[in-house]
Amino acid sequence: MGQNLVLNMSDRGYSVAVHNRTVSKMRDFLQGPAAGRSISGAETLEELVGRLASPRKIMLMVKAGETVDTYIEGLLPLLEKGDIIIDGGNSHYPDTERRTALLESRGLLYIGTGVSGGEEGARRGPSIMPGGSSAAWPALKHLFQAISARAADGTPCCDWVGSGGSGHYVKMVHNAIEYGDMQLISEAYHIMRTLLGMRYDEMARAFDSWNQGRLESYLIEITAAILRTRDDDGSPLAEKILDAAGQKGTGKWTVVDAAHLGVPVTLIAEAVFARSLSARTEERQRASAILGDLSPAPPDLDEAEKARILEDLEAAVYAAKITSYAQGFMLIREAAREYSWEIDYGAVAAMWRGGCIIRSAFLEDITAAFREKQDLESLLQAPFFAKIMRDALPSWRRTAVRAIEGGLPAPALSSALSFFEGYRSNRLPANLLQAQRDYFGAHTYERVDRPRGEFFHTNWTGTGGDVASGTYNA
Ligand code: 6PG
Repeated sequence: MGQNLVLNMSDRGYSVAVHNRTVSKMRDFLQGPAAGRSISGAETLEELVGRLASPRKIMLMVKAGETVDTYIEGLLPLLEKGDIIIDGGNSHYPDTERRTALLESRGLLYIGTGVSGGEEGARRGPSIMPGGSSAAWPALKHLFQAISARAADGTPCCDWVGSGGSGHYVKMVHNAIEYGDMQLISEAYHIMRTLLGMRYDEMARAFDSWNQGRLESYLIEITAAILRTRDDDGSPLAEKILDAAGQKGTGKWTVVDAAHLGVPVTLIAEAVFARSLSARTEERQRASAILGDLSPAPPDLDEAEKARILEDLEAAVYAAKITSYAQGFMLIREAAREYSWEIDYGAVAAMWRGGCIIRSAFLEDITAAFREKQDLESLLQAPFFAKIMRDALPSWRRTAVRAIEGGLPAPALSSALSFFEGYRSNRLPANLLQAQRDYFGAHTYERVDRPRGEFFHTNWTGTGGDVASGTYNA
């Protein structure tokens, strides 16, 4: 990714000096793809720093974690006031907060930026989500916006996110939404393959046709291409791939932070845990030998029924996807409040329209919803999305029921449905839950016929006493 970003910068007329700890790797790059360009190599950090004009802009594209700190420690004594260090990896946002404070205390500037789009995106134009020292942005804006992808309206898919770790936070949520999108697509594939008995070329065509409509997105596009890909023996390659998902941590961080902030990102959490369950491959195989015969036989369907089920499935995936993005923005909004970041949600959606892994036509609609109402409480309340959700609900419910009756796990599709049913409910059964808490622990409750903030305790058994416990919420 680092090499491709350098080539991209060089395409836009910037001179770049590069450094790699493994000098042979750097030489291969300079003699290979970088040959004939204004890209030079530096064997040491001293040499690298000596090559750069002030204020120096040094971008690290290294593994998140200790490696970033090691490079910062190496660079600190070499830099001068106003120089900028940029971390373009998937760093955890508290690390970026800490590093920004450290560099600023030394008179330097720090940027933690999300860069999405993989190797190809880095070369052709990624989505870039910078945050950190705001004083560094004017010096970087031109470069970052020049190398980033462009949305259909020509706007660069890069804008200032906010202070501290906000750039990496937004990238973390981007990745978590990516987990959700991937899980939803995988559940749809599972339903097509197992419940509808579709062949691989048929499924590829279905995803192709979804990609012509409102679900148009990079991830749907590559899914169709993956389903078409054959192994050397001519069979679908996907069938040969072990069903054990990996994960590098951004999804997990999102769920942990969401739990900390009390934000119900249920679809993302299910997507993370679905990966965790898939990775317990051997245990599942042992369980399958004991429990695997519980799946009912797939239904015998004619073509018209199949088409109807597919239509429902498309609507269900779309509605669940809207719910997932609504949850993701709910989290960003809460994080901004908690960590004192000023984030323009419309600008975030706009940055995701091109270059990144979750790029899609749908992000244009999200951008428009936030542009129409800056302080939109939830995407689900935007008139455009509210109508889609109302229309899709019957299809979504039928799809969830079909998956359950067919014995197929569809955790993202069905938990998002439960979230949505809860979100649109004026009254949930939490009244009973509060009564239970008060019954066994005198935790108190509020009453519908009294103002919020007044707490009551009932002596439910007549023996529990009238003393209430504290009313704090964690
Ligand atoms: C991107 C990707 C990128 C990477 C993820 C994969 O935006 O370009 O999200 O950051 O592919 O780190 O994450 P997992 O390994 O956790 O799936």
